[in-house]
Amino acid sequence: MWNCKYFYTGFALQYKIIVHLVQFTMIKAVIFDLDGVIVSTDEFHYQGWQRLADEEGIYFDRKINERLRGVSRLESLEIILERAVRKYNPKEKTEMADRKNKYYRDLLHTLAPDDVFPGVERMLKELNERGIKIAIGSSSKNTPFILEKIGMEGTFDAVSDGNQIKRSKPDPEVFLLAASKLNIPPGQCLVVEDADAGVEAAINAGMKCLAVGSARKNPKAHLGANNLTEITVEQLLQI
Ligand code: BG6
Ligand code: MG
Repeated sequence: MWNCKYFYTGFALQYKIIVHLVQFTMIKAVIFDLDGVIVSTDEFHYQGWQRLADEEGIYFDRKINERLRGVSRLESLEIILERAVRKYNPKEKTEMADRKNKYYRDLLHTLAPDDVFPGVERMLKELNERGIKIAIGSSSKNTPFILEKIGMEGTFDAVSDGNQIKRSKPDPEVFLLAASKLNIPPGQCLVVEDADAGVEAAINAGMKCLAVGSARKNPKAHLGANNLTEITVEQLLQI
């Protein structure tokens, strides 16, 4: 009799712990990187940097450009300057970063809602229908401008971007800020990223990660895909 009672009490306790663990690891929010995940601004970044590098006579190509994904503007410039034949002082560096940003913003003016990547709107709608929160986690200081250009300024429950952080990816700051704005623990957040630095930032934040595009083969990500058209909302939430 007593054995039976202890057996059922033990069973109920185990059941409660399992339910708690499942709930604790359930995805409650998805944080999207912006450039290269929601919209193809990554190509404009490349064109802006290529123009600046050509003007300065610094060698730059698409392979070097891959290292700039997810990295802040000034850190990107430092990577480009690794190939420079002379040293640049802080004032010159600020001028160069501003010049590149001007070229980049000129290109951004052509951006429109049609430029949002296929699969993005469907995914956002389906997440919304399931009560999953959605946020942006981007290193870009141009995030508000880009969201406005693609008609998504009011779409996300939270926006965490380059204007609000001190350390850019692979530091987890931008994703942790998004999670705290949503009031959801990092362990219940999933990040969608196209940059290796971003995948690392998600893992450093203790979040799950779907890697797309350039980062799709990153072994640290929990799942990889070419783009969001290949992933169902169920697959995403089961990661
Ligand atoms: C990231 C891009 O989203 O934003 C990087 O992947 C870019 O390539 C960074 O350097 C900073 O962007 P911005 O718009 O502030 O110059
Ligand atoms: Mg990106």
